[in-house]
Amino acid sequence: MILTPRGRAGICILPIADAHAHFTSEPHWSRVLDLAGRSRSEITDVVNLGDWGDYSWASDHPRGEPSDAYSEYRCMARQSDELWKALGPRASRVRWHWIDGNHEYRIDPANPKAIARDLIIRPENTEWHASFARWRRRPYLLDRRGILRIGNAAFFHGAGSGRGSDRLEGLRMWSLLGGPRNLLTVRGHTHTVVVPQPVEITAATRGTQWMFNPGHLGPAKPRYATKDNTTTWGTALSLIRQWGNELPRVQYEIIR
Ligand SMILES: [Fe+2]
Ligand SMILES: [Fe+2]
Repeated sequence: MILTPRGRAGICILPIADAHAHFTSEPHWSRVLDLAGRSRSEITDVVNLGDWGDYSWASDHPRGEPSDAYSEYRCMARQSDELWKALGPRASRVRWHWIDGNHEYRIDPANPKAIARDLIIRPENTEWHASFARWRRRPYLLDRRGILRIGNAAFFHGAGSGRGSDRLEGLRMWSLLGGPRNLLTVRGHTHTVVVPQPVEITAATRGTQWMFNPGHLGPAKPRYATKDNTTTWGTALSLIRQWGNELPRVQYEIIR
């Protein structure tokens, strides 16, 4: 919550993490659309943090999930168009970023494990290509190229999981970026909300880096995670604003 009144932020980012279409929670998705609609005059960037689709049909380890690329892409295209509409006339001036997650890696032609690589259906080759064309895509890479930097905010889907992985990956991002001051690192992947907080460098040292994980937009117990512990999963609806060269501020609400 921003308690100090101030002028308009130069940057206002709407993050979306782990929608996992077509398992996306519709009530949660409509809250995202509400927020986009209410904040349309200030949003400058939308960052899709990856795992937008599930792509189990392209997975080398399917878990008995429905294997239907088209219903998944239809759902993602609908979400893209709904978000475009919610943002109103300024939607064409918003920057649309899509960072690949480990699930997008299932359809990445560079993935040696992708099954039937030549036959993989990519979103831009479907009838919904226009809905995907607005997104600037970033591949799933664990080095600097996998990080999206907007001002002092750095976004990355994430690879590690479990307690402490947000801090470790935050430190790694900070170091890959050359150790900048006032950095906010944002990741998804764990489906578990980590509220904005300083990144501890050692038990006694804190730098000027903060981290945030907005959680996910999927259902609480999806079929794709029958073997995972989903009790910690959650969703933070959020906006990230930045004034000048300050640490970006996160305004968030945990939704259920
Ligand atoms: Fe995910
Ligand atoms: Fe992930």
